[in-house]
Amino acid sequence: MLHLDNSGDLHRWSRAALGRGQTIAFVPTMGYLHEGHRSLMRIARERADQVVVSIFVNPLQFAAGEDLDTYPRDPEADLHICESEGVDLVFMPGDLYPSDFSTTVVVEGLTNGLCGATREGHFDGVATVVLKLFNLVRPTMAVFGQKDFQQLQVVRRMVRDLDLDIQIVGGPIVRDSDGVALSSRNAYLSSEERAQAAILNKSLIAADAQVRAGERDPEVLVEAVRQAVQAAPLARVDYVELVDAGSLEPVTGRLDRPALLALAVRFGQTRLIDNRVLGEEQLQA
Ligand code: PAF
Repeated sequence: MLHLDNSGDLHRWSRAALGRGQTIAFVPTMGYLHEGHRSLMRIARERADQVVVSIFVNPLQFAAGEDLDTYPRDPEADLHICESEGVDLVFMPGDLYPSDFSTTVVVEGLTNGLCGATREGHFDGVATVVLKLFNLVRPTMAVFGQKDFQQLQVVRRMVRDLDLDIQIVGGPIVRDSDGVALSSRNAYLSSEERAQAAILNKSLIAADAQVRAGERDPEVLVEAVRQAVQAAPLARVDYVELVDAGSLEPVTGRLDRPALLALAVRFGQTRLIDNRVLGEEQLQA
């Protein structure tokens, strides 16, 4: 496995791989890798000649007061995980931005709601770094986790709007045995917070059961999830929303096609997100 920290070297490597007619699958990450990242690497490994993983805690996507400085890091363990998943190249730059960096990629509309409503500039930072990494890696395809559903849609929109010739693949959410979606930020949770965090997935499953039983009122579905989550003493709801999975606009009126139930909940300083598509089997897309 090759380990590069320099953009020029990566550029030369990708030019050579593409020159040999090879395909490149890319998994961008911020490190502190877990089973969820492993699953994305496996999707990448199955689909391309070369697999590239980037590990970079991107300062542009953290607002003031967020956890940039405390974001968990373990580069040695990360390299070990990449190696064991058959990754060909790990790109772990110290920095990616010149001191006078002055370009921002803004994906309008899709970034207004859900996490975008409270995380000022977050998706601009994500889109900017992802485009920069795409230009360095020059992947045939890139794999993103569906836990960050809004991020996945933002990347898809950017790729479509800017005519990037990259296939974007969404990897299913990977959960722990208690149903908590895997996230590097779970490391922040106390054992009590961690136990209560199981309510997120439980409440999404309960909403799914309500839809299966015939409930079609978005307000009833959202309110039931909100109440269930709020019953956990340490949980503070940031949002619970039922949105169109394509536009991410809130569902109004009766639920008549599959929709995304998405939530963000704080436990202490830790903000967790999760989601589930409702009505996939019961309603026509
Ligand atoms: O999902 C993440 O880990 C990050 O947002 C990403 C896509 C690597 C961009 O920094």
